[in-house]
Amino acid sequence: MTGDLAAFVRGLPKAELHLHLEGTLEPELKFMLAQRNGVELAEKTVAEVKATYRFHDLTSFLRVYYPAMRVLQQPRDFHDLAFDYLTRAHADGVRHVEMFFDPQAHTGRGVPFHTVISGYRSAIVAARREFGISAELILCFLRDHSAEYAMATLLEALPYKDWIIGVGLDSDERGNPPSKFADVFARARQEGFLLTMHCDIDQTDSIEHIRQAIEDIGVDRIDHGTNIIEDDRLVELAKSSGLALTCCPVSNSFVTNRMKADEITALLDRGLVVTVNSDDPSYFDAYAADNYLALARQADLGVEHLVRLAENSFRASWIPAAKLERYLHDIREYVAAYS
Ligand code: ADE
Ligand code: ZN
Repeated sequence: MTGDLAAFVRGLPKAELHLHLEGTLEPELKFMLAQRNGVELAEKTVAEVKATYRFHDLTSFLRVYYPAMRVLQQPRDFHDLAFDYLTRAHADGVRHVEMFFDPQAHTGRGVPFHTVISGYRSAIVAARREFGISAELILCFLRDHSAEYAMATLLEALPYKDWIIGVGLDSDERGNPPSKFADVFARARQEGFLLTMHCDIDQTDSIEHIRQAIEDIGVDRIDHGTNIIEDDRLVELAKSSGLALTCCPVSNSFVTNRMKADEITALLDRGLVVTVNSDDPSYFDAYAADNYLALARQADLGVEHLVRLAENSFRASWIPAAKLERYLHDIREYVAAYS
């Protein structure tokens, strides 16, 4: 199996639950969109773009991430971005994906909310028709902006409720705790959205932020959240309630000095619903299957752990029970056929 592990992982049915659509902008598409929209770029080659991908923490990553988005202007730009990602995800064995988008990163520079979401939505419909992949959208609020701006964005999204499964919280966590957005998340829950939020790796107040997300906000899932391992009480709480973590090993190695493979594996072994995801695959040069493989190599995981991670990805997702059973069945069939 060792030689075939990559092929096994690529074919393994899986869900991806921590994926920023704006983080899938490949340099080639960036050039194409820049030309389409008459945007002048400082970098002229793919190598020059990639040379700017030098990050040492979340903040330095975000400084490269947001300016790149200015090439996204028309509905078809957002469509192309999402469709390209869904095409790659399908090739990686991803059957279902719940994708973040950052409307404020676009409305804040004058691109209407409708332009953003209609482009993403048409890609979801097209990819389902073409590949049978199912996809949902999660609207993320930018936590380094005000709670009032987040609330206004939530209200702007209400007419599109049927296209959005949940809300999340991302961007720079320093000094921006979950509690800042308590009212916004309470209103989102009232409106029927599911709730998740980033508790990024090694933040100043990681444990307190995780506690607030679980106990004060009542999230349905946590994005990253790996620092929970430092607090036994929170680990037990997450375990007893089946609260899932969407971990991103390769991303961790870009914004901290390690993949946190030991922590991720320990949480998995302690019975938490740990999942593996790509976060911003274009910037970290690793899509879904690459993340499974990187973790497997780093923590010396075999088929049994990889299968558990794939099963968890569907258990942690927001799909109906019947669909979950079908995907778990597909995994069992795939593994049986492989061995
Ligand atoms: N925006 C895009 N990726 C992010 C991450 N990993 N954490 C916070 N905000 C993000
Ligand atoms: Zn993320």
